Amino acid sequence: MFDKKSLVLMASFLMLAVFSPLSGFSEEPANCLVCHSSMKGKILSPAGHMIELHVDTDRYTESVHGSFSCTDCHFKFSENPHASPGGVVPQNVLAVSGKISAKHPVDPVAAAACVACHEEIYTYVLGSVHGRNILEKNETDGALCLDCHGSPHYIRKKEDPESSVSRGNHVKTCGRCHGNRELYEKYGLEKNVIHSYEESFHGRKLHLGHMKAPVCSSCHNAHDIKTKDDPSSPVYGKNKLQTCGKCHEGANEKFIPAISHKPAGPIPHYAEIGLIILTMSVFAFVIIHVLLEAYSDIRDAVFRKKEDD
Ligand code: HEC
Ligand code: HEC
Ligand code: HEC
Ligand code: HEC
Ligand code: HEC
Ligand code: HEC
Ligand code: HEC
Repeated sequence: MFDKKSLVLMASFLMLAVFSPLSGFSEEPANCLVCHSSMKGKILSPAGHMIELHVDTDRYTESVHGSFSCTDCHFKFSENPHASPGGVVPQNVLAVSGKISAKHPVDPVAAAACVACHEEIYTYVLGSVHGRNILEKNETDGALCLDCHGSPHYIRKKEDPESSVSRGNHVKTCGRCHGNRELYEKYGLEKNVIHSYEESFHGRKLHLGHMKAPVCSSCHNAHDIKTKDDPSSPVYGKNKLQTCGKCHEGANEKFIPAISHKPAGPIPHYAEIGLIILTMSVFAFVIIHVLLEAYSDIRDAVFRKKEDD
């Protein structure tokens, strides 16, 4: 008789009827959470997007933006219910929202709202290889804020172990895309970056909890990420002197090629085989030597015995 969506809507409006005298349509998070903390699961919105309705009050409050009104980002939703959103949107937020609406179709204004308070970072990201993938190539594969920082409602400080960009989670966060075959093949990127990092001296040190071991952003930046062929990239040519030099005092041109993500070439492979053959022959030589010596000892003993007889 009723589908799931109309039931959710009916329940919501019922709740609104109950709570509205208390809320008076002001903009406190509680006025939105009245519905959004109690609604669970995903539904298809009227605009045709699959959306997650639930916002967890405790996790929201504990997040870095926990003291904010929902409408500090959801500028358009300044009136309840939000059948016809109409809040005033700052000019710089509006400009960015137009550029990223294919990436964030549910509420592009909210996804652009970060620029109101994190303007410098947003500008870096839009100019990065990730941002240009969206603005210039009209793709949606490049990373924007939420791809690296997770749900906009539960962002934590980078020092917090639960943050998606903490030292413990950092590699996994980049790896969600850079370890994804479909993506690295589509853009012709080196397929081995995550694996080669984890196998490297640095990756192993990080795994052991070494606090100074570099993570991806130590060599590539976090927001101002460029392709390796861009002269302003920290891993372009001689820029590596400075990048490695942050931690390796006196890093010179012989040292800096020591780290890339390229699979080890054929030369170390043959060197390894050569080493194995060498070790085996030494063993064989020693064993044969011992056997011959034993044989000659036995033969001498037998002869001596015969002479004694
Ligand atoms: C009366 C209950 C109710 C209240 C109060 C409410 N919402 Fe919603 N919200 C819903 C329902 C139901 C949906 C899904 C259907 C829809 O989009 O209308 C939704 C969807 C959304 C979406 C997804 C985008 C969209 O257009 O579907 C956003 C964002 C949102 N709400 C933000 C807010 C904010 C911010 C507030 C407070 C200013 C708020 N909501 C208050 C019930 C409510
Ligand atoms: C720091 C900014 C920020 C704050 C504060 C914020 N939101 Fe959001 N919210 C976003 C962004 C960004 C999206 C994703 C929009 C998109 O992908 O198109 C979003 C999406 C949503 C959605 C849709 C979920 C989905 O699956 O796309 C709902 C519902 C929602 N917010 C409700 C709320 C409520 C309720 C509050 C207050 C308790 C709140 N938001 C506070 C930034 C924020
Ligand atoms: C490619 C992944 C990525 C993207 C995209 C990204 N960030 Fe970050 N962000 C990080 C990492 C990693 C750190 C932690 C850097 C560190 O440990 O020094 C960080 C740190 C931060 C910080 C803390 C201050 C600082 O500079 O260390 C803020 C604030 C921030 N990001 C906001 C944003 C906003 C806003 C956006 C979108 C415009 C965004 N980030 C996009 C990865 C990303
Ligand atoms: C109304 C201003 C405002 C908006 C809008 C806003 N932020 Fe923030 N954000 C802040 C402030 C202030 C802090 C620092 C909180 C603190 O130090 O406790 C912060 C902290 C952060 C941090 C953690 C920084 C760290 O120290 O590790 C990240 C990441 C972040 N914001 C990302 C975003 C993203 C992504 C958006 C958009 C979805 C956004 N912010 C929207 C004001 C804002
Ligand atoms: C110690 C420094 C260092 C660290 C840590 C590091 N990289 Fe790199 N990365 C480099 C260098 C140097 C290059 C350029 C190699 C070249 O010129 O061929 C590079 C190249 C890349 C490329 C381009 C590869 C291509 O040829 O298509 C990607 C993507 C990349 N890194 C991602 C990552 C990710 C993700 C992480 C974390 C898991 C990471 N890097 C950690 C130094 C580093
Ligand atoms: C949402 C997916 C996604 C996430 C998350 C992501 N990236 Fe990327 N990254 C891409 C895509 C897609 C490209 C290729 C864009 C293009 O060429 O248009 C790219 C390109 C790059 C390049 C340039 C490669 C080259 O030399 O051309 C580097 C370096 C890089 N990313 C590093 C990182 C680091 C470091 C992180 C984590 C802090 C990260 N990325 C997180 C999707 C992602
Ligand atoms: C954020 C700091 C940091 C950055 C940036 C960094 N490294 Fe390292 N690196 C370390 C640490 C820490 C160790 C482990 C040192 C130890 O335990 O002795 C290490 C170890 C190494 C080692 C093996 C041991 C040695 O000292 O010879 C090599 C080789 C190396 N790094 C090369 C590089 C190259 C090349 C770059 C630049 C592309 C680079 N590193 C960038 C911190 C860094």
